Amino acid sequence: MTHPCIVVTGTDTGIGKTVFAAALTGALGAHYWKPVQAGLEPDGSGDADAVARLSGRPRAAILPEAWRLATPCSPHRAAEIDGVAIDPDALVPPMVDGPLVIEGAGGVLVPVTRSTTYADVFARWALPTVLVARTELGTINHSLLSLEALRSRGVPVLGIAFVGEANPDTERTIAEMGTVKHLGRLPRLPQLDAATLAAAFAAGFQPKDFTA
Ligand SMILES: Nc1ncnc2c1ncn2[C@@H]1O[C@H](COP(=O)(O)OP(=O)(O)OP(=O)(O)O)[C@@H](O)[C@H]1O
Ligand SMILES: [Mg+2]
Repeated sequence: MTHPCIVVTGTDTGIGKTVFAAALTGALGAHYWKPVQAGLEPDGSGDADAVARLSGRPRAAILPEAWRLATPCSPHRAAEIDGVAIDPDALVPPMVDGPLVIEGAGGVLVPVTRSTTYADVFARWALPTVLVARTELGTINHSLLSLEALRSRGVPVLGIAFVGEANPDTERTIAEMGTVKHLGRLPRLPQLDAATLAAAFAAGFQPKDFTA
C-alpha cells in the first residue's frame, strides 16, 4: 500500500492552513512537516507546535523543520535577515512510514528564495496539493489566481478546502470556474482543540478524498 503525501497551501497567510493541516494530519494518522518556519512565537513555537497540539498525533509524528527563521515575513527575506541561505533543492519531503502532510508558508507565490517560489517547489515535488481558501469576500479572485499559478507550473491540485462560514454560491463558483474539487469546509470554531477540530473535520470532509 502506498501512503499519501499531501501538500497544503493557501490563498494567503493567516487563513487557516495550519488548522486544516492539523485536522488532516489527525484524520489520516499522518506525519506533519513544515519545511520552512518564518517567524516564531515569543516562546519559540511555530506551526509544528500548533499541529502537535491540534492534531492529536504523538510529538514524534511532527517532523523538525528544515529551516527555522526568526523574522515573521516571507522566507526569502527572513533567511536574509537571519544570515542563512535556503537551498530549495534541499527541501525534499522526508521519508516516513505512513502518510505525510506538508504545509507551505503564506500563499502559492511566496518566495522561498529570490528566484524560487513555493509553487516552483511544489511543482518539483509533483505531490497532490490542497489549496486552502477563505469563504469571505475576495476569495473568488484569490482562489482562481492561486489555482492558475499552481496549474501553470504543473502542480497536481487535489482540491480546495474552505475555512470559514458557509458561502455556498462563492464556494460553488470557485469549484466550477476553477474546475477544482470542493473537498469540504471547516467552520471557524469558537473553541479550538484537538477534539472539536477532529469532529469538525469529520463533519466537513471525507478522508477517502485524500487517500484515493
Ligand atoms: N477553523 C478555525 N477555527 C478557529 N480558528 C481558526 C480556524 N482556522 C484558523 N484559525 C485561527 O486563525 C489564525 C490563523 O490560522 P492558521 O495559523 O491556521 O493560518 P495559516 O494559513 O496557517 O497561516 P501561516 O501563513 O502563518 O502559516 C490562528 O490563530 C488560528 O488558530
Ligand atoms: Mg500556518
